[in-house]
Amino acid sequence: MSEQQAKTKQAAGGKMWSGRFREPLDAAFEQWQRSFPFDVRLLAQEVAASKAHAQMIAAAGILTDAELERMIDGLDQVGDIRPEFAPIEPGMVNPRLLGAELGTTPRSIRRWLSKQPEFCEIHVKHTRIALAKDDPLLLRMKNHFAIQANLNLDGEGTYEEFPATTEADLAASMAHAEDIHHFVELQLTRVIGPLALKLHTGRSRNEQIATDMRLFVREAIDATVKGLRRWALALIELAEQAGDAVMPSYTHLQRAEPVLVAHWLLAYVSMIERDASRLADARQRMNLCPLGSGAVAGATLALDRTIAARALGFAGPTPNSMDATSDRDFLLEFTQALATLGVHISRFAEELTLYATAEFGFLDLPEAFSTGSSAMPQKKNPDFTELMRGKSARLVGAATTLAVLLKGLPLAYNKDLQEGQEPVFDAADTVRGILGILPAFTRSLKFNFERMKSAATTGYLNAMAAATYLSNKGVAFRRAHEIVGNAVRLGLESGRELDAIPLAKLQELSPEFGEDFHAAIPLEATLDCHDVIGGTARTRVRAALAQARQRLSSDALA
Ligand code: ARG
Repeated sequence: MSEQQAKTKQAAGGKMWSGRFREPLDAAFEQWQRSFPFDVRLLAQEVAASKAHAQMIAAAGILTDAELERMIDGLDQVGDIRPEFAPIEPGMVNPRLLGAELGTTPRSIRRWLSKQPEFCEIHVKHTRIALAKDDPLLLRMKNHFAIQANLNLDGEGTYEEFPATTEADLAASMAHAEDIHHFVELQLTRVIGPLALKLHTGRSRNEQIATDMRLFVREAIDATVKGLRRWALALIELAEQAGDAVMPSYTHLQRAEPVLVAHWLLAYVSMIERDASRLADARQRMNLCPLGSGAVAGATLALDRTIAARALGFAGPTPNSMDATSDRDFLLEFTQALATLGVHISRFAEELTLYATAEFGFLDLPEAFSTGSSAMPQKKNPDFTELMRGKSARLVGAATTLAVLLKGLPLAYNKDLQEGQEPVFDAADTVRGILGILPAFTRSLKFNFERMKSAATTGYLNAMAAATYLSNKGVAFRRAHEIVGNAVRLGLESGRELDAIPLAKLQELSPEFGEDFHAAIPLEATLDCHDVIGGTARTRVRAALAQARQRLSSDALA
C-alpha cells in the first residue's frame, strides 16, 4: 500500500468500502448513519448466513476444505462473542460460556458434541447449542471435559496467532463497526486472520441484510405462532370451564341476545386462528434465500445458490436478484399481520377493561396483573389490559412505517431500507412481551357468572326469540317484530319482563300468542333457537369448542 493509499484508508476509518474515497466522512454523519447499534441483534443470523455463503464459495473453489473449516469455526466463535446479542432461549447453552466453565474451547465443545450419536440438528440453532440443563448429553459432556482437564489431554489446537477477542478489542471494533456485516468481518479477521477477507468474495451487504432479516422474521413468526397457540388454548380452557354459563351479547354496546360465555371466548379463538394463518402464509411466501443475488444483478461468481438456500432451511433461492435485494414485502406483511393481531389483542383488552368495571361487574381482575392507585386507596387498576390496548398502537405504527418507507423506492437497494429494521424489531419484541403474559393472564380470569346471567336474563334479551315464536306461527317477521316491540313497551310500562306479562294482555296484541309462548322464551330456548353452524345453541357451542380444541392440539398451529 502506498503512503497515500494508507492515508485514504485511514480517512475512511477502515470501512468495507474505503478504496475509492479520498476524504474522511463527516464525523457526525458517520455516527448517525451507522446501523450497528440496532442491527447488532442480527449477529446470529449474520453468522448463519455467512456460514452458508462460505459453503457456497467453497463449492465454487474459492476456499479449500481446510479453509472452509477454519472459516466456519471462526464464524461460530464470532457468534459466541456476546451472548446478550443473540439471546439464548431457555434450555440453550452458550458454547463460549460453557467452554469457560469447563476449561475448554467452544470449538472443542462443538467437535465433541458433533461426534455423539444422540447429537442431531435440533441441538444446534445458529451459533447456539440447544441442550436442556438436565440433558444427559450435557452431563456426559461435563464429565468428559472434567476428565480431559484432569489428564490435561485436551489437544485441540486453538488459533494461537490470533488470540481470542479481548473485551477491549471488542469495544474498539464496536465503536467503529458500521453495521453487523462489518462487525462480523472485523471479528472474524481477529479470530482467523487474513483468511477472513475471502469471505466477502462474490457477495454484497445488500443480499446479506435481506437474508438476515428473512431469518429474523422467520424465527419471529414461529415464536409468535407458538405464543398464539398458547393464548388460544388458554381461552379454550376458560371456555370449557364456563360450561353453559351465559352473558349478554352486545351490538352497538347495547344488550342484544344472550350467548354462552364460551361462544364469546371462541370468537377470539377465531381471530387468533386467522392471525396464525396470516403469519404462516407470509412465512411460506418469504421462505426463499436471497444469497447469491449480489448487490443487484446477481453474484459475480458462478455460485450454486441452492447450497446456501438449503443450509439456511429456505425452500429455494429467490428468482430475481433486483427484487431479492430490495424486496421488503416480508417485513410489510409481517408487521401488518402483527398490527392485525394487535387490533385483536386490543379489542380483547378493551372488553375486559369494560367488563371489570363496577358498572358491568362481569369479572374480577386478577390481582397479580393489576396495580393500585397512589392517590385513591380503593382502586384496582387494569394496567395489563390498558397497556395491551396501548401497545397495539406501536404495532399499527410499525406497519405504517414500513408501508410509507417502501412506497417511493426505485429498484433496487436503497439505504432507506435500513430504516425498516427497528420497527420490525420493536413489533416483534412487543408481541413477544404480550404473548409471554397473555396466556397466564387469560387463565387467571375469574368471571362473575351470576352477574353475567342476570344481565343476560333481564332487559328483554329474549325479544328476538319471542318474535321468532310468532313468525313460526305464520306471522310475517316484520309484523312479529312490531308486535313484540309493543309487548316490550307494555313490559317497560308495567315493570315486567316478557315472561311475566299475562297471556291475556299479550293476546290483545296478537291472537297468535298461545299457551306455549312461555316455553319458547326462557333462557335455554333463547340460546338453543340459534341452532346453526356458528350459532350459540348449546350443542353447537359444545361441538365448536371440541373442534377448536382438536385443531389447536394438532400440529396445524404448532
Ligand atoms: N446496514 C445496511 C442496511 O441495513 C446494510 C446494507 C448496506 N448496503 C449498502 N449498499 N450500503 O440496509
